[in-house]
Amino acid sequence: MDKPIIAKKEPAGLTLEPGKYFWCACGLSKAQPFCDGSHKGTGLAPMKFEIAETQEVWLCQCKQSCAKPYCDGTHEGL
Ligand code: FES
Ligand code: FES
Repeated sequence: MDKPIIAKKEPAGLTLEPGKYFWCACGLSKAQPFCDGSHKGTGLAPMKFEIAETQEVWLCQCKQSCAKPYCDGTHEGL
C-alpha cells in the first residue's frame, strides 16, 4: 500500500485539548481521524502533531489534503 485510502470525503470537526496526537495517514483506522495502529504492514505511518491550547480543528479524513493533518478543501474535488 503506497497510497492512503479515503476514510471519508469530509473533515472531522473536533475541539482538541493541549497535547500530542497521531493523525491517521493511511485511512484504515477505525478511530478516524486518529491512528489506531491499523497501518501496520502498509508502509504508511501516522502523522504526529501537537496542540498548544484548546482549539477547534478540522482534521482531514480523505487523506489527500496538502495541509495534513488539517482539511484544506481537497475533499470537495474527490
Ligand atoms: Fe492509519 Fe495508523 S491507522 S496511520
Ligand atoms: Fe481531506 Fe478535507 S477532508 S481535504
